[in-house]
Amino acid sequence: MKYVIGVDLGTSAVKLLLVNKNGEVAHEVSKSYPLIQEKTGYSEQDPEEWVSQTTAGIAELIETFDGEINDIEGLSFSGQMHGLVLLDENNDVLRNAILWNDTRTTKQCQDIYDQVGKEKFISITKNLALEGFTLPKILWVKENEPDTYQKAKTFVLPKDYLRYRITGKLQMEYSDAAGTSLLDVGSKKWSKEICDLLGIDISICAPLVNSHDNVGKITADFSNQTGLVATTDVFAGGADNACGAIGSGILSPGKTFASIGTSGVVLSYEENGDKDYEGKVHYFNHSAPNAYYTMGVTLSAGHSLNWFKNTFAEDEDFDTLLNEVGTVPVGSNGLLFTPYLVGERTPHADSSIRASFIGMDSSHKRKDFARSVLEGITFSLNESIDIFRKSGKTIDTIYSIGGGAKNEEWLQMQADIFDAKIVKLTSEQGPGMGAAMLAAFGSGWFSSLEECADAFLTEAEVYQPNKENVEKYEKLFKVYKQVYVQTADLNKQLMDFRN
Ligand code: XUL
Repeated sequence: MKYVIGVDLGTSAVKLLLVNKNGEVAHEVSKSYPLIQEKTGYSEQDPEEWVSQTTAGIAELIETFDGEINDIEGLSFSGQMHGLVLLDENNDVLRNAILWNDTRTTKQCQDIYDQVGKEKFISITKNLALEGFTLPKILWVKENEPDTYQKAKTFVLPKDYLRYRITGKLQMEYSDAAGTSLLDVGSKKWSKEICDLLGIDISICAPLVNSHDNVGKITADFSNQTGLVATTDVFAGGADNACGAIGSGILSPGKTFASIGTSGVVLSYEENGDKDYEGKVHYFNHSAPNAYYTMGVTLSAGHSLNWFKNTFAEDEDFDTLLNEVGTVPVGSNGLLFTPYLVGERTPHADSSIRASFIGMDSSHKRKDFARSVLEGITFSLNESIDIFRKSGKTIDTIYSIGGGAKNEEWLQMQADIFDAKIVKLTSEQGPGMGAAMLAAFGSGWFSSLEECADAFLTEAEVYQPNKENVEKYEKLFKVYKQVYVQTADLNKQLMDFRN
């Protein structure tokens, strides 16, 4: 039996999946690493942690593997998007990586609009200038750490740096490059115009490849450290959301997923790169050849639930915390949560907004709060679905992945709030599976990613919307949407009191 490895370089951990030719996960290892948060709004990581934890994880995977090591043909990657890794002329890392959930760059986003022009910027990059994206981070370093910027020869994204350390070769690929705000998304070229207008030398951008491209073999060092054979092929890989799309079969028009991880994402397949969403949702190159996707992001999805558990139920597990949610009626007895714990992206690109519980009553119990957290996260994703629908897209079936697909109540809630059929896959591995599928396709096991998806992915359960609940949630969603409008200014005033 032949195998591939999917490396999913996430924000809190790297997950390694050993996947066989039938799409079965033969073995799985996860290794975590810390976030470095020196100040409010800062979020960094040491790239060396990614390399050492991935190396240790693959070594562990190989140690417990009882098949032929030669049968592991290749590996590929899924990576947390947008993170800035700055390299000097020797490709040594110049500073900690600044991650996608870092929001220090509000000023630089405004500078981008002032210098490039908002309309031009959106027409080239297909996206707004957002704090989380890479370009404003580059400008922040240029402005605040000029000595470091002077030494910078190239920038790459997290999984590109990891791949460099595994192969010795430096590239970026389209799906992640699309999240830098320096790529002309439609024509798939680095934008010289944006670089020139912002005083950035275009040579800082690494060469571009396709996600399924074979970019070489692993180095002798990596082979020695992990036990993988030196002939193991490496395929470029993709952005975590693009890989999540592949891993849940979002490979043709009409297909959509809702993913609830740390952040929450609604992603829908696009055939072409020439639609105009005016930057309301993200519009990126897919990791599937010559395809695109649109996407809305809520920054604090699973993060809201984690925060709630850690703050109010530290010693309990999630199952205990959520086990009474089903006994609370739709609407959490009048309690409404907005999940803006770290600001928001879609549809409100606002780094100063913060979360609210509205309607607290002395009769409310913890279970009401727990249900309202789940409802608030789901409403936030529904705002993106609303934008897709209003732009003419039909969204009647949604594949649910991530933490949100683990709880039955939450799956039914998604069907009721999204007013769509929710499908859960048998083995839901999301981005890691997408990375493995890129390696499987790149290795020639299948003639297309669609063929690979047919062989690897099976639907397990379907949740149909309940008409009565749909109507209640429609009413409540109208209230939910007002909370942002009515609390945005209050939160700006509260900013002075945040540390
Ligand atoms: C997408 C985004 C997040 C990260 C999480 O734009 O910022 O989903 O990719 O890893």
